[in-house]
Amino acid sequence: MATRFIAPECESQFLQQSFQQRLSHWNRQRLAPSYPEDWESRFRQDEAMLRLEHGFMEELRAMVRDRAAQAPTDPEGFIQWFEALEQTGPGQHDALFPWLADHASRDEIRWFLTQEAAGEAGFDDLVASTQVKLPDSAKLELARNYWDEMGRGQEKGMHGPMLAQLVTTLELTPTIETTVWESLALANAMTAMATQRCYAWHSVGALGAIELTAPGRSAHTARALRRIGLSQSERRYFDLHAVLDVKHSRDWNELAIKPLVAEDPRRATAIAEGALIRLSCGERCFNRYRSHFGLE
Ligand SMILES: [Fe+2]
Ligand SMILES: [Fe+2]
Repeated sequence: MATRFIAPECESQFLQQSFQQRLSHWNRQRLAPSYPEDWESRFRQDEAMLRLEHGFMEELRAMVRDRAAQAPTDPEGFIQWFEALEQTGPGQHDALFPWLADHASRDEIRWFLTQEAAGEAGFDDLVASTQVKLPDSAKLELARNYWDEMGRGQEKGMHGPMLAQLVTTLELTPTIETTVWESLALANAMTAMATQRCYAWHSVGALGAIELTAPGRSAHTARALRRIGLSQSERRYFDLHAVLDVKHSRDWNELAIKPLVAEDPRRATAIAEGALIRLSCGERCFNRYRSHFGLE
Protein backbone atom coordinates (compact mmCIF):
# COMPACT_ATOMS: atom_id res chain seq x y z
CA MET A 1 0.00 0.00 0.00
CA ALA A 2 1.37 3.40 -0.95
CA THR A 3 1.65 5.94 1.82
CA ARG A 4 2.13 9.61 1.16
CA PHE A 5 5.28 10.90 2.75
CA ILE A 6 4.99 14.23 4.50
CA ALA A 7 8.22 15.68 5.83
CA PRO A 8 8.09 16.22 9.59
CA GLU A 9 8.39 19.91 10.38
CA CYS A 10 11.95 19.64 11.65
CA GLU A 11 13.05 18.25 8.26
CA SER A 12 11.22 20.80 6.18
CA GLN A 13 13.41 23.31 4.36
CA PHE A 14 10.54 25.81 4.52
CA LEU A 15 9.35 25.65 8.12
CA GLN A 16 12.53 27.26 9.36
CA GLN A 17 13.54 30.66 10.73
CA SER A 18 16.06 31.43 7.95
CA PHE A 19 13.71 30.59 5.06
CA GLN A 20 10.73 32.44 6.50
CA GLN A 21 12.83 35.54 7.18
CA ARG A 22 14.10 35.46 3.61
CA LEU A 23 10.57 35.10 2.26
CA SER A 24 9.31 37.94 4.50
CA HIS A 25 12.05 40.30 3.30
CA TRP A 26 11.33 39.42 -0.33
CA ASN A 27 7.59 39.98 0.16
CA ARG A 28 8.21 43.34 1.75
CA GLN A 29 10.50 44.38 -1.11
CA ARG A 30 8.50 43.03 -4.03
CA LEU A 31 5.14 44.42 -2.90
CA ALA A 32 6.45 47.89 -2.13
CA PRO A 33 5.72 50.47 -4.84
CA SER A 34 9.00 51.12 -6.64
CA TYR A 35 10.67 52.09 -9.97
CA PRO A 36 11.62 50.11 -13.08
CA GLU A 37 15.35 50.32 -12.37
CA ASP A 38 17.35 47.22 -11.67
CA TRP A 39 14.69 45.04 -13.27
CA GLU A 40 17.03 42.30 -14.44
CA SER A 41 18.35 41.34 -11.05
CA ARG A 42 14.85 41.65 -9.64
CA PHE A 43 13.47 39.26 -12.25
CA ARG A 44 16.16 36.74 -11.40
CA GLN A 45 15.51 37.04 -7.69
CA ASP A 46 11.72 36.89 -8.20
CA GLU A 47 11.99 33.72 -10.27
CA ALA A 48 14.05 31.94 -7.62
CA MET A 49 11.82 33.13 -4.78
CA LEU A 50 8.57 32.31 -6.61
CA ARG A 51 9.76 28.72 -7.00
CA LEU A 52 10.60 28.50 -3.32
CA GLU A 53 7.30 30.13 -2.35
CA HIS A 54 5.47 27.58 -4.48
CA GLY A 55 7.38 24.73 -2.83
CA PHE A 56 6.46 26.10 0.60
CA MET A 57 2.77 26.29 -0.35
CA GLU A 58 2.75 22.78 -1.82
CA GLU A 59 4.20 21.45 1.43
CA LEU A 60 1.45 23.20 3.41
CA ARG A 61 -1.16 21.81 1.00
CA ALA A 62 0.16 18.27 1.40
CA MET A 63 -0.43 18.54 5.15
CA VAL A 64 -4.13 19.44 4.82
CA ARG A 65 -5.07 17.70 1.57
CA ASP A 66 -6.69 14.62 3.10
CA ARG A 67 -8.91 16.59 5.47
CA ALA A 68 -9.89 19.09 2.75
CA ALA A 69 -10.84 16.24 0.41
CA GLN A 70 -13.56 15.26 2.89
CA ALA A 71 -15.36 18.61 2.55
CA PRO A 72 -18.69 18.37 0.67
CA THR A 73 -18.68 20.09 -2.72
CA ASP A 74 -22.35 21.16 -2.84
CA PRO A 75 -22.86 24.79 -1.72
CA GLU A 76 -25.07 24.15 1.35
CA GLY A 77 -23.05 21.18 2.57
CA PHE A 78 -19.81 23.04 2.03
CA ILE A 79 -20.89 26.11 4.02
CA GLN A 80 -21.89 23.83 6.90
CA TRP A 81 -18.49 22.14 6.79
CA PHE A 82 -16.72 25.49 6.56
CA GLU A 83 -18.62 27.05 9.47
CA ALA A 84 -17.92 24.01 11.65
CA LEU A 85 -14.22 24.93 11.43
CA GLU A 86 -14.93 27.60 14.05
CA GLN A 87 -15.31 24.75 16.57
CA THR A 88 -13.23 21.97 15.08
CA GLY A 89 -10.59 23.70 12.94
CA PRO A 90 -6.86 23.38 13.75
CA GLY A 91 -5.86 25.63 16.66
CA GLN A 92 -9.40 26.69 17.49
CA HIS A 93 -10.18 27.69 21.06
CA ASP A 94 -6.57 27.42 22.11
CA ALA A 95 -5.84 27.76 25.83
CA LEU A 96 -3.46 30.63 25.00
CA PHE A 97 -6.32 33.12 24.63
CA PRO A 98 -8.13 32.74 27.97
CA TRP A 99 -4.66 32.88 29.57
CA LEU A 100 -3.88 36.15 27.74
CA ALA A 101 -7.26 37.56 28.73
CA ASP A 102 -7.02 36.72 32.43
CA HIS A 103 -3.43 36.08 33.49
CA ALA A 104 -0.69 37.37 31.14
CA SER A 105 1.42 40.30 32.33
CA ARG A 106 1.66 43.55 30.38
CA ASP A 107 5.04 42.49 28.95
CA GLU A 108 3.73 39.05 27.98
CA ILE A 109 0.83 40.71 26.15
CA ARG A 110 3.30 43.09 24.50
CA TRP A 111 5.44 40.15 23.29
CA PHE A 112 2.37 38.37 21.91
CA LEU A 113 1.20 41.49 20.05
CA THR A 114 4.70 42.17 18.70
CA GLN A 115 4.71 38.69 17.13
CA GLU A 116 1.20 39.17 15.78
CA ALA A 117 1.96 42.65 14.39
CA ALA A 118 5.12 41.53 12.63
CA GLY A 119 3.23 38.60 11.15
CA GLU A 120 0.37 40.79 9.96
CA ALA A 121 0.28 40.64 6.16
CA GLY A 122 -2.31 43.43 5.81
CA PHE A 123 -5.82 42.05 5.45
CA ASP A 124 -6.86 44.95 3.19
CA ASP A 125 -4.13 44.25 0.63
CA LEU A 126 -4.77 40.49 0.78
CA VAL A 127 -8.44 41.10 -0.08
CA ALA A 128 -7.51 43.55 -2.83
CA SER A 129 -5.05 41.13 -4.43
CA THR A 130 -7.44 38.20 -4.15
CA GLN A 131 -10.41 39.89 -5.84
CA VAL A 132 -8.66 40.31 -9.22
CA LYS A 133 -10.80 38.67 -11.96
CA LEU A 134 -13.16 36.97 -9.49
CA PRO A 135 -16.77 36.34 -10.58
CA ASP A 136 -19.15 39.23 -9.83
CA SER A 137 -20.85 38.17 -6.60
CA ALA A 138 -17.59 37.27 -4.89
CA LYS A 139 -15.90 40.39 -6.27
CA LEU A 140 -18.67 42.57 -4.83
CA GLU A 141 -18.45 40.93 -1.41
CA LEU A 142 -14.67 41.36 -1.34
CA ALA A 143 -15.21 45.01 -2.33
CA ARG A 144 -17.62 45.57 0.57
CA ASN A 145 -15.21 43.91 2.96
CA TYR A 146 -12.33 46.00 1.59
CA TRP A 147 -14.37 49.17 2.00
CA ASP A 148 -14.85 48.36 5.70
CA GLU A 149 -11.06 47.84 5.96
CA MET A 150 -10.77 51.33 4.46
CA GLY A 151 -12.98 52.77 7.21
CA ARG A 152 -15.64 53.37 4.56
CA GLY A 153 -13.58 56.23 3.23
CA GLN A 154 -12.60 57.72 6.60
CA GLU A 155 -8.91 57.63 7.42
CA LYS A 156 -9.68 57.38 11.14
CA GLY A 157 -11.69 54.21 10.55
CA MET A 158 -9.03 52.36 8.50
CA HIS A 159 -8.17 49.06 10.17
CA GLY A 160 -4.44 48.93 9.29
CA PRO A 161 -3.59 52.30 10.89
CA MET A 162 -5.79 51.36 13.86
CA LEU A 163 -3.51 48.39 14.56
CA ALA A 164 -0.44 50.56 13.94
CA GLN A 165 -1.76 52.97 16.57
CA LEU A 166 -1.95 50.16 19.13
CA VAL A 167 1.65 49.22 18.30
CA THR A 168 2.66 52.82 19.06
CA THR A 169 0.59 53.00 22.26
CA LEU A 170 2.23 49.84 23.62
CA GLU A 171 5.66 50.93 22.31
CA LEU A 172 6.14 47.72 20.34
CA THR A 173 8.92 47.32 17.78
CA PRO A 174 7.91 44.48 15.47
CA THR A 175 10.72 43.40 13.13
CA ILE A 176 11.20 40.39 10.87
CA GLU A 177 14.40 39.43 12.72
CA THR A 178 12.74 39.24 16.14
CA THR A 179 9.64 37.38 14.98
CA VAL A 180 9.31 33.62 15.38
CA TRP A 181 9.17 31.71 12.08
CA GLU A 182 5.68 30.40 12.80
CA SER A 183 4.27 33.92 12.71
CA LEU A 184 6.27 34.87 9.60
CA ALA A 185 5.08 31.66 7.91
CA LEU A 186 1.46 32.59 8.55
CA ALA A 187 1.88 35.99 6.88
CA ASN A 188 3.96 34.50 4.06
CA ALA A 189 1.37 31.81 3.34
CA MET A 190 -1.42 34.42 3.24
CA THR A 191 0.64 36.58 0.88
CA ALA A 192 1.44 33.62 -1.38
CA MET A 193 -2.23 32.65 -1.68
CA ALA A 194 -3.34 36.24 -2.39
CA THR A 195 -0.67 36.93 -5.00
CA GLN A 196 -0.11 33.62 -6.86
CA ARG A 197 -3.26 33.25 -8.95
CA CYS A 198 -3.17 29.45 -8.84
CA TYR A 199 -4.06 29.84 -5.15
CA ALA A 200 -6.84 32.44 -5.63
CA TRP A 201 -9.58 30.04 -4.42
CA HIS A 202 -7.32 29.00 -1.55
CA SER A 203 -7.03 32.67 -0.62
CA VAL A 204 -10.83 33.07 -0.56
CA GLY A 205 -10.93 30.17 1.92
CA ALA A 206 -8.02 31.44 4.01
CA LEU A 207 -9.45 34.97 4.30
CA GLY A 208 -12.88 33.52 5.09
CA ALA A 209 -11.26 31.42 7.84
CA ILE A 210 -9.84 34.61 9.36
CA GLU A 211 -13.26 36.29 9.38
CA LEU A 212 -14.78 33.14 10.87
CA THR A 213 -12.28 32.73 13.69
CA ALA A 214 -11.09 36.28 14.47
CA PRO A 215 -14.05 37.30 16.70
CA GLY A 216 -13.19 34.73 19.39
CA ARG A 217 -9.49 35.63 19.50
CA SER A 218 -10.17 39.37 19.25
CA ALA A 219 -12.59 39.30 22.20
CA HIS A 220 -9.96 37.63 24.39
CA THR A 221 -7.25 40.04 23.26
CA ALA A 222 -9.54 43.03 23.90
CA ARG A 223 -10.18 41.66 27.42
CA ALA A 224 -6.42 41.38 28.01
CA LEU A 225 -5.91 44.99 26.88
CA ARG A 226 -8.73 46.23 29.13
CA ARG A 227 -7.23 44.36 32.09
CA ILE A 228 -3.87 46.11 31.67
CA GLY A 229 -5.58 49.48 31.54
CA LEU A 230 -5.93 50.43 27.87
CA SER A 231 -8.80 52.79 27.13
CA GLN A 232 -11.68 52.00 24.83
CA SER A 233 -10.16 53.98 21.98
CA GLU A 234 -6.74 52.37 22.49
CA ARG A 235 -8.11 48.82 22.24
CA ARG A 236 -10.54 49.71 19.45
CA TYR A 237 -8.92 47.44 16.82
CA PHE A 238 -9.70 44.29 18.83
CA ASP A 239 -13.07 45.46 20.17
CA LEU A 240 -14.11 46.22 16.60
CA HIS A 241 -13.01 42.87 15.14
CA ALA A 242 -14.69 40.93 17.96
CA VAL A 243 -18.00 42.21 16.60
CA LEU A 244 -17.59 43.28 12.96
CA ASP A 245 -16.01 40.02 11.79
CA VAL A 246 -19.11 38.07 12.83
CA LYS A 247 -20.97 39.96 10.10
CA HIS A 248 -18.00 39.83 7.72
CA SER A 249 -17.87 36.06 8.10
CA ARG A 250 -21.60 35.57 7.48
CA ASP A 251 -21.47 37.73 4.34
CA TRP A 252 -18.23 36.19 3.07
CA ASN A 253 -19.68 32.68 3.32
CA GLU A 254 -23.06 33.55 1.84
CA LEU A 255 -22.05 36.02 -0.88
CA ALA A 256 -18.52 34.97 -1.83
CA ILE A 257 -17.99 31.28 -1.03
CA LYS A 258 -21.47 29.93 -1.74
CA PRO A 259 -21.86 31.33 -5.29
CA LEU A 260 -18.26 30.37 -6.14
CA VAL A 261 -18.88 26.75 -5.13
CA ALA A 262 -22.29 26.68 -6.85
CA GLU A 263 -20.60 27.73 -10.09
CA ASP A 264 -17.79 25.18 -9.86
CA PRO A 265 -17.71 22.47 -7.15
CA ARG A 266 -13.96 21.99 -7.65
CA ARG A 267 -13.43 25.32 -5.93
CA ALA A 268 -14.81 23.85 -2.68
CA THR A 269 -11.74 21.67 -2.23
CA ALA A 270 -9.34 24.56 -2.94
CA ILE A 271 -11.26 26.85 -0.55
CA ALA A 272 -11.17 24.10 2.09
CA GLU A 273 -7.41 23.66 1.66
CA GLY A 274 -6.87 27.42 1.98
CA ALA A 275 -8.92 27.60 5.17
CA LEU A 276 -7.08 24.62 6.69
CA ILE A 277 -3.69 26.03 5.68
CA ARG A 278 -4.53 29.33 7.41
CA LEU A 279 -5.79 27.63 10.56
CA SER A 280 -2.83 25.21 10.74
CA CYS A 281 -0.41 28.13 10.42
CA GLY A 282 -2.27 29.78 13.30
CA GLU A 283 -2.08 26.58 15.33
CA ARG A 284 1.72 26.48 14.89
CA CYS A 285 1.88 30.07 16.20
CA PHE A 286 -0.21 29.28 19.28
CA ASN A 287 1.96 26.23 20.08
CA ARG A 288 5.10 28.32 19.79
CA TYR A 289 3.67 31.19 21.86
CA ARG A 290 2.51 28.80 24.59
CA SER A 291 5.94 27.21 24.79
CA HIS A 292 7.56 30.69 24.88
CA PHE A 293 5.34 31.54 27.89
CA GLY A 294 6.03 28.17 29.55
CA LEU A 295 2.35 27.21 29.39
CA GLU A 296 2.91 23.57 28.45
FE1 LIG B 1 -10.26 44.37 9.63
FE1 LIG C 1 -13.20 41.55 8.80
